[in-house]
Amino acid sequence: MSKKIQEKLEHKEKLAEKRDRMLRHDFSAERAVFEEVFDQATLMVIYDFLNNGILYELHGVVNAGKEARVYWGKDKDGNDLAVKIYLTTAAEFRKGRLKYIEGDHRFKNVKRDTRSLVFAWAQKEFKNLEQAYNAKVRVPKPIAVKDNVLVMEFIGKGGVNAPSLKEHPPSNAEKVYKLLLTYLHRLYCKADLVHGDLSEYNIMLWKGKPVIIDMAQAVPTSHPMAQFFLNRDIENINRFFVRLGVEVLSTGEIYKRIVG
Ligand SMILES: Nc1ncnc2c1ncn2[C@@H]1O[C@H](COP(=O)(O)OP(=O)(O)OP(=O)(O)O)[C@@H](O)[C@H]1O
Ligand SMILES: [Mg+2]
Repeated sequence: MSKKIQEKLEHKEKLAEKRDRMLRHDFSAERAVFEEVFDQATLMVIYDFLNNGILYELHGVVNAGKEARVYWGKDKDGNDLAVKIYLTTAAEFRKGRLKYIEGDHRFKNVKRDTRSLVFAWAQKEFKNLEQAYNAKVRVPKPIAVKDNVLVMEFIGKGGVNAPSLKEHPPSNAEKVYKLLLTYLHRLYCKADLVHGDLSEYNIMLWKGKPVIIDMAQAVPTSHPMAQFFLNRDIENINRFFVRLGVEVLSTGEIYKRIVG
């Protein structure tokens, strides 16, 4: 056997070994789902993350939505990671998504086929997380993105994700509300972003504090719909906290403080 072929075989074996080490969860019962999420191209992206040391292990699923799945992973130091995989087969994907990409100057030249849009969507979430994180808005720290796979800080512990505000209304509601208003202000003024889908479903409660997630649809403040989205975000937050008995500021007042 030539040296080259032997090296190739060894490389393949090493890759398989790595994969087996990586897949710590027994996926056999979920075989069909597994194959839908981890198609060949997605597996190659995961291998890349293994080879460059970003990902060490992949455990079970944390949340299975229609368009994305979130998995629990670990890095080589044993830190928890969240691995969000966007399904490139989600037929519904185009619908409703284009308006968040059109009008976003960062994504002017994206191709319009579904696959390119899904990839752009993952890059967009990563960039948004990065801008928010740098502006000191509490979001999962973004770690890496490639194609349809996004790796970020895991909010929770030992594979158990923190609850959303919806699932676990905070006992310190006043404090959480005020923190959220601070984050909204930073998001707009420092990160130059509007979330666009903010509600009790997309805010997690971790160690008594809110963590804003699901940032893919967030748009720059220059987006033609940005002011509309901002008002809707504020209304959603107010509606939730009024029900918890918090004395909220009016939507107009908050809007003025953020934009004015
Ligand atoms: N960084 C994270 N750490 C821990 N859990 C997470 C993280 N990001 C997301 N999750 C979990 O996965 C769920 C779905 O994530 P996200 O909202 O980002 O995706 P989505 O595509 O909007 O899915 P859905 O339609 O189910 O909301 C969250 O509600 C949360 O429970
Ligand atoms: Mg969500």
